[in-house]
Parts: sequence; structure tokens; C-alpha cells
Amino acid sequence: MTKRVFSGVQPTGNIHIGNYLGALTQFVRLQDGNECVYCIVDMHAITLPKAPEELRDNILDVAALYIAVGIDPARSIVFVQSDVPGHAELAWILMCNSYTGELSRMTQFKDKSRGNESAPTGLFAYPVLMAADILLYDSDIVPVGNDQKQHIELTRDIAIRVNNKYGSDTFVVPEGRFLKEGARIMSLDDPAAKMSKSAANSLSRISLLDDASKIKKAIMRAATDSDGEIRFDPENKPGISNLLTIYSVFAGTPLADLEKTYAGQGYGTLKKDLVDVVTDALTPIKQSYEEVRHSEELLRILKDGAERANAISEQTLKRVKERFGLGSR
Ligand code: AMP
Ligand code: TRP
Repeated sequence: MTKRVFSGVQPTGNIHIGNYLGALTQFVRLQDGNECVYCIVDMHAITLPKAPEELRDNILDVAALYIAVGIDPARSIVFVQSDVPGHAELAWILMCNSYTGELSRMTQFKDKSRGNESAPTGLFAYPVLMAADILLYDSDIVPVGNDQKQHIELTRDIAIRVNNKYGSDTFVVPEGRFLKEGARIMSLDDPAAKMSKSAANSLSRISLLDDASKIKKAIMRAATDSDGEIRFDPENKPGISNLLTIYSVFAGTPLADLEKTYAGQGYGTLKKDLVDVVTDALTPIKQSYEEVRHSEELLRILKDGAERANAISEQTLKRVKERFGLGSR
């Protein structure tokens, strides 16, 4: 039986090579043989303050990037979360079946609320909305980066809990899909932190739309270490190991081969070659992005995607509401 794949990316700007290598490359590959649903999760993006004009722009940016990296809207459903009302509806039902204790343990919530005396309720409930996204489509597989492991576990816990109470076929219990390499790309300036859209230093990341000179600057300045040895050893050499991972995944060259090729060479040589590898990989993505970003076609894709997503969502909600005894009929 064909499997249903679901994933989402927040329209928060600066989509970077971590998003690409950890998540988007999986989205593209999983299109073969599966039924894929890819969402732009704009309701997640308002858990922290966001200017309206910027949000609308960022939504279309992610949509255009989805198409530019190779998501095929003829095969896969591409849509914006808030265009399908079922996400918010199911999120409420799931909130009544999740616990404040388990949500308090989510590390993303702890990170994002740190320093805020009073965090928005939506930030706290964020993982429940994510669970709703996934369960709404009876999803089997959820391709994401490692930072989402805890949220996927929570989604499974909620699904199993509801199934135990309301019938074992209420929800499909999904599985996360994580890559061996690329699932956690680190910051270029600080390899102890994951590459993120929001880090203040823009040289900490390479965004998919960065130009060649920015790519060069970020890689040439990337943190390394002082022993001069090119070896994959994330624990003792996190900076070089991160660069080797990026190289390996973009070029499709095994890490062991890279270690052999660069044995005895300086970091400068590795970095210079990596600049070319990344620039070559991103150039065609940027070109397709420019072609589609301001097209009528993009809006048509999202409208069509929302209709197809809504059709699935309505079926699931009908089933769930029946099980819960909700509604007048
Ligand atoms: P977000 O930007 O938080 O919406 O993330 C979109 C997707 O990219 C999710 O599947 C994340 O797990 C993944 N992702 C985010 N940052 C990284 C990173 N530094 N390395 C690998 N994957 C990442
Ligand atoms: N929380 C995810 C992130 O920050 C984004 C997301 C929202 C998501 N809903 C989802 C990912 C459903 C996979 C499935 O990256």
C-alpha cells in the first residue's frame, strides 16, 4: 500500500542548508512511491510575534522554494496550513488529550520561552498543533531534522493515547524519518549550536538564496580548530566535521572518501572546494525560485493544494468527531 508522507516548514525566513539537507532533500526523494503532503505551517510561525507583510512574503518564499528544490505539485500536495481549517480544529481536540506536564518537557518550548517571563499559550501548545498537522492526514512517515524528534514522539504518544480511549483506528500512528547525515547541520560560527534561521549572525548559516560572495564569506570564516587535521570526528572536531558533512551530502561523496582526498591538506583547500560545491548546488535552486516566486502559477498550486488537503482533512475530522461524540449529528 502506498504510504502517506507529511511534513512542514515554518515561513520564518532564511531557509538554510540545514533545512535543505535535513528535511527538503527527503521531501523530494520520498515523492517516489509515496503520497506526499507538504505544508507551509504559517500558524506555527505566529507563536512568536511576526509582522503581517513579512509573514505573507515568507509564506510565498517557502512555497516557491518547495517547488524550486524539486517538489512536484502534480504529484504532491503543497499548501498553506491556515488555508485548511481542520488543523486548528483537530489541535483543540488533541489539546484536550495532552498534558501540561509533557508539554513543559519539550526542549524547543524551553529554548524559545527562555528569558520571557510570560510565554504565549500558542508557543506552549505548538507541538500539539504539529501533532494535529500530522494526524489530520493519516500520515505514516514524517521526514524531519533531528531537532523534531521529541515532537514526533509526542505526536505518537497522543495518537496511541486517543486510540486506546476511542478506538484503535482513530489515528494512524506516524513514524519520524531522519537522515543519517544532514539531520543536524551545525552553525558555521559555532559548531556547538544547530544552524538556525534566527541566529543574529548571518554568517552562522548559508541560506538557500544567498549569493556566491556571502556563501564564500560564511564558509571561509567558519570555525574550525587548530590541529590542522581533516578528519570526521564530531566530538573532538565539530567544526571540520560539520563542513565535511555539508560537503559529503551536497556532493554525494562518502565521508571516508573526503577524508582520503584531503589527507595532509590544509583547511583552506577544503573550504575553497566546499565553496564551489555549495555554490554549484544552490545556483539552480535560486534560478527556479526566481522563476516561480512571483508567478500566478504559484498561487494556483497553493489553491489547488488547499482543496486537495481540505478533502482529506474533512474525512479525518468527520471520523474523529464521530468517535468523540462531538457535534449535533
Ligand atoms: P523549521 O525551520 O524549524 O521549520 O524546520 C524545517 C525543517 O528543517 C524541520 O524538519 C527541521 O527539523 C529541519 N531543520 C531545521 N534546522 C536544521 C538543521 N540545523 N539541520 C538539519 N535539519 C534542520
Ligand atoms: N515544528 C516543525 C519545525 O519547526 C515544523 C512543523 C510543523 C512540522 N508541523 C509539522 C514538521 C508537521 C513536520 C510535520 O521544523
